[in-house]
Amino acid sequence: MDLTVLYQVSYGMYVAGAQKDGRPVGCVINTVCQITSENPILSICLNRDNYTYKAIRETGRFSLSILSQETNPNAIAMFGFSSSREKDKFARFDYFVKDGLPYLREKACGYLTCQVLSVTEMETHAVIFARLVDTACGEKLPPMTYSYYYNVIKGKASKNAPTYQAPAPQARQPEAAGTSKWVCDVCGHVYEGERVPDDYKCPICGMDRSHFKEQ
Ligand SMILES: Cc1cc2nc3c(=O)[nH]c(=O)nc-3n(C[C@H](O)[C@H](O)[C@H](O)COP(=O)(O)O)c2cc1C
Repeated sequence: MDLTVLYQVSYGMYVAGAQKDGRPVGCVINTVCQITSENPILSICLNRDNYTYKAIRETGRFSLSILSQETNPNAIAMFGFSSSREKDKFARFDYFVKDGLPYLREKACGYLTCQVLSVTEMETHAVIFARLVDTACGEKLPPMTYSYYYNVIKGKASKNAPTYQAPAPQARQPEAAGTSKWVCDVCGHVYEGERVPDDYKCPICGMDRSHFKEQ
């Protein structure tokens, strides 16, 4: 079966937010779908390991911030490649809280508030059906599609995204004597060399060299 055909399926880009133990948590998702028009119901798909999933299961509520083409790519990298388990992701960006739920502002073009109706768990992921209970408009900017993120921003999906496809394995280069290892503090990608070049961008999450720490 040729799974690359799945690249032709279209999506948008969102940050799902929730509250866990009194603090805001959230992650990037591309799997929002409107299921009904009257009393709208939406579905989202989350990896069961994601901290945001655990928060939504506990509280039964979540927010969606609809990202625009001008949303800060660093926010997408942070929300899509690191976990709220270890980081307060929202604190690093422009956001607001309403009725306990966090919403990422960062040029988002709309905000949705959802109440969980049911959850169907599969091996790795779960589909959550939720009633739309509130909406708010954001910036008048075009929403970011997954295709825009992939082709224009040159972003990637991270391992827990339902759309993730592992890259073909590459032959490992023999380690040159005396080179150092630099680890991206957002996604864990390792750069090997004397020093990280000034214009280097992480090939996984797009962060610049300031995020690489020598191991
Ligand atoms: C472009 C992109 C799309 C993603 N889509 C989803 C998704 O639809 N569902 C999901 O569970 N994770 C998705 N992810 C992965 C989560 O954002 C990622 O696992 C995140 O680190 C989870 O954070 P958390 O542990 O704070 O919840 C996506 C990541 C990227 C970069």
